[in-house]
Amino acid sequence: MKLSFHGQSTIYFESNGKKVIVDPFITGNELSDLDASTLKVDYIILTHGHADHFGDTVELANRNHATVIGSAELGDYLTTYHNVENVRPMNIGGKANFEFGSVKYVQAFHSSSLTDDNGIPVYLGMPMGIVLEIEGKTIYHTGDTGLFSDMKLIADRHPVDVCFIPIGDNFTMGIDDASYAINNFIKPKISVPVHYDTFELIEQDPNEFKEAVQVGDVQILKPGEEVQF
Ligand code: NI
Ligand code: MN
Repeated sequence: MKLSFHGQSTIYFESNGKKVIVDPFITGNELSDLDASTLKVDYIILTHGHADHFGDTVELANRNHATVIGSAELGDYLTTYHNVENVRPMNIGGKANFEFGSVKYVQAFHSSSLTDDNGIPVYLGMPMGIVLEIEGKTIYHTGDTGLFSDMKLIADRHPVDVCFIPIGDNFTMGIDDASYAINNFIKPKISVPVHYDTFELIEQDPNEFKEAVQVGDVQILKPGEEVQF
C-alpha cells in the first residue's frame, strides 16, 4: 500500500483503485507538496472542521465529485453551504465499509469549527480520530487531540500498525504527551509525528519525539514521503 504524508495532518493513500486523502490542508500550507487545483481524489476523510484540516475540501469534492466522510455536522455544512453532492455523515464509535477499506471514528479531545466571513466560529460537531483498516493494515490517525487514557482501549480493540500523532503542542499534544501515548497506550509498529512546523506556534524538533519513543519505529516523513512498511 502507498501511504504518504503531505504536511500538517494530511495523509494520502490508494487502495483498491481508489484515491483517498485525509485532512486536505493544501492551499495556504507552505509545507504542502500537493496542488489542490489538479489533485484527483475519490474520497476525502475529515477529522474535524478546523481550517488546517478542512483545507481544500470544497474544491476537491466538487471538482472530483468525491465523497466526503466526516461528522454529521460537517456533512450538513458541506451540503447546505457548498452544494457538495456526496457526503457520508458518521460519528464517534461508528464504523463503515468503503471501496478502499473501513473507517471507524473514535474520540479526540479538541474542538471543531470553521470561521465564517464575519469572523464568527461555526461549530461543527465533535472532533474525532480515525481508525482505518486498509489491505490488512490498521492505521490510527488520532486527529488533533490532547492525551487521553482511552487511547489504550482504542489500540487494544484495533492493534495499530501505523499511528499518525500530533507533536506540535499549543493546540494539541506536544512531544512529552505524544511519546507517552505511544509508549504506554498505543504501542504501534510505526509512529509518524504530524501537526508541527506548519506555523510558528507549533515549531518542534521531531528528533526529540523519536528519541523519546521506545516502542516500534518512528518515521519522520518530509511532505510527499511514504511510510515504509
Ligand atoms: Ni484543530
Ligand atoms: Mn489542527
